[in-house]
Amino acid sequence: MVPAWLAANPRASRQQTFGPAQRAVIDPAKVPDVGALLGGGHGPTPLYALPALATRLGVGEIRAKDESQRFGFGAFKALGGVFAVHQFIATHKDRPAAGITFTTASSGNHGRSVALGAQSVGARCTIFLPKFTSAEKEEAIRAKGADVIRIDGDYDTAVAECRRQAAERGWTVISDTSWEGYGQIPLDVMRGYTMLAAEILREWKDGPTHLFVQAGVGGLAAAVIGYFWAVLPQRPVSVIVEPESADCWFQSNRAGQPALASGAADTAMGGLACREISPVTWPILGMGADWFMTITEDQVIPARRLFAHPLNGDPALTSGPSGCAGLAGLTRICTEADAFKALGLDGQSRVLLINSEGNLGEGTV
Ligand SMILES: Cc1ncc(COP(=O)(O)O)c(C=O)c1O
Repeated sequence: MVPAWLAANPRASRQQTFGPAQRAVIDPAKVPDVGALLGGGHGPTPLYALPALATRLGVGEIRAKDESQRFGFGAFKALGGVFAVHQFIATHKDRPAAGITFTTASSGNHGRSVALGAQSVGARCTIFLPKFTSAEKEEAIRAKGADVIRIDGDYDTAVAECRRQAAERGWTVISDTSWEGYGQIPLDVMRGYTMLAAEILREWKDGPTHLFVQAGVGGLAAAVIGYFWAVLPQRPVSVIVEPESADCWFQSNRAGQPALASGAADTAMGGLACREISPVTWPILGMGADWFMTITEDQVIPARRLFAHPLNGDPALTSGPSGCAGLAGLTRICTEADAFKALGLDGQSRVLLINSEGNLGEGTV
């Protein structure tokens, strides 16, 4: 019996091929070079091996892709917003950048990426932040030349307000989540994220057998799982990790269609504090993610500490509460024999984690 916080995807099968519905979301032939859009000089982020941790947890290998070192920006989000802004400019040549105001709602990281993209093309930018986003993240967005509007509510409330004001003022929304009639730009954002998946496989030829990836609306997970599914002979067993209170993917898996989170998304994991999934990701995560699990708030600090103060000889990683959630998921699985077995984990498994953010505005542990 697997624990109640873990659920298999009844629609996923190991034999299912990456078909047209999936390719419409993630196209492995269209991985951009986002660093070049920012003037170049950026190498891939490190893919660290954590052998001591692998031994402790009883798996063959653990590797962590360290997005805290992305472009000096500190989160994988630098890939998505920046690329989508440049893509918009490239496909709307009739609109001078100086006359465009880009906008989005964000828990912090995506907004900073859109602000960076807007600054790099000479456009204006206004970012909507929920109540919980740290003052440091707000300051970092302003430092990229953007205006900030604080919303007295959560992430989903900020999304609604951003949509309302953008429609009123003629601003261009660069959202990382999709809704009915609004899909292309979130797809561009996810296309930016595929760069990190491509970097991983350039360095790690066999790739992982297992992937623990944290989800907010699902964009990161869909980009990575979709890319691996498309290019590897066998896609890894993929586990979607969410905070208990922001379990929109866990609930959507159970319902067999997009469904709301069971809680109020009041979590320290700000980047994952979403009550609704991004519907464009469904053909990938709804059909091809193998497992969905939740983690509790008190599992965050131990996971951040484990990255920051690693076991014997493993490299140290700086992470924020959302960044370490995949590791918190893995350690939770490894403390439950039934769960460990159900996922097919053993001493041969090659596990991938993505440290999706550093500690900007999150203090140290
Ligand atoms: C650090 C971090 N990790 C993971 C995520 C989740 O990404 P997505 O909302 O695409 O699932 C976010 C989203 O903001 C984030 O900021």
